[in-house]
Amino acid sequence: MKPRALVTGAAGFVGSNIAWELSSRGWDVVALDDFSNGDFKNLQGFPGDVIAADVGDVAYWSPRVGRADAVFHQAAITDTTVADQRLMMRVNVEAFRDLLEWARKTRVKKVVYASSAATYGDLPVPQREGAAPKPLNVYGFSKAVMETVAEKAKGVRAVGLRYFNVFGPREAHKGKYASMIWQLSLQMKAGKRPRIFEFGEQYRDHIYVKDVVDANVRAFEKAAPGVYNCCTGRKTDFNAVVAALNDALGTSFAPEYFKNPYSFYQNETLGDPAKARKAFGFAARWTAERGIQDYIGGSRKPAGAEA
Ligand SMILES: NC(=O)c1ccc[n+]([C@@H]2O[C@H](COP(=O)([O-])OP(=O)(O)OC[C@H]3O[C@@H](n4cnc5c(N)ncnc54)[C@H](O)[C@@H]3O)[C@@H](O)[C@H]2O)c1
Repeated sequence: MKPRALVTGAAGFVGSNIAWELSSRGWDVVALDDFSNGDFKNLQGFPGDVIAADVGDVAYWSPRVGRADAVFHQAAITDTTVADQRLMMRVNVEAFRDLLEWARKTRVKKVVYASSAATYGDLPVPQREGAAPKPLNVYGFSKAVMETVAEKAKGVRAVGLRYFNVFGPREAHKGKYASMIWQLSLQMKAGKRPRIFEFGEQYRDHIYVKDVVDANVRAFEKAAPGVYNCCTGRKTDFNAVVAALNDALGTSFAPEYFKNPYSFYQNETLGDPAKARKAFGFAARWTAERGIQDYIGGSRKPAGAEA
């Protein structure tokens, strides 16, 4: 019998990439999303069932899903600037609690869920799982509480992956919350110089979505319950991102630097990948540069280059 997965947030960026990959590997996949932020185009032609439901509305979707071997939980409010604490906590934490209870009752083998590097806030780099969370906003707080809820849940095996800065196909619907790589590529494709803060030396741990999908599958197969970084352990600064985008697009734009208007800004994010490597053999295979080539290169050309 085919393994069966429930993917929540499956019309979203990471969820749709997981759903398509599992499906191509022969899984029977149920895609669940309330379409509050996802995009139907991410699921166009999807061979599995698509359920339009709020993940917290278990009574509605439970009979429609039936059983599952695995849950890949990606549904969340992902706009990190949402200030409505009640809403953030209800969607990200309480719906997750209900999902875990359903997983326990229906004997799901493992729940792999999306946590975030936002749980670290501005803790010194490289950020490691052992440190006490220090989120700087309610989004990061909600992810930290999800981890506690998962840890305390009885009778269900749950693995949290703290994603760092994910980029890749199927993120366009996120608009200004899509990755910086995507934002800068849009500026350059429109024939404009990419705008970055002075002097482009801030860096991120950019992880390609194909690696994030791989981490999810491996975590399902091998990880013991717990929380793990989902990162590359490599720094890529914004000057290097612009250089890689120039390579991918065949352009030669110089960055347009401008003063950072924020009094608080994280100049660096970097995860330590050691725990995930040891626990379930996950190591990112894509550098930011190669990921950018795969994602933005190929058929995509800058404005004016078509002729
Ligand atoms: N993209 C990143 O860089 C990143 C970094 C850290 C963590 N994460 C986490 O990864 C997960 C996926 O994020 P993403 O980047 O794909 O964002 P996304 O917004 O594209 O995907 C989230 C999906 O969840 C759906 N959703 C929201 N609330 C729902 C609800 N109550 N019921 C059902 N569906 C609901 C949305 O419609 C959307 O399709 C999220 O949990 C996010 O917090 C993402």
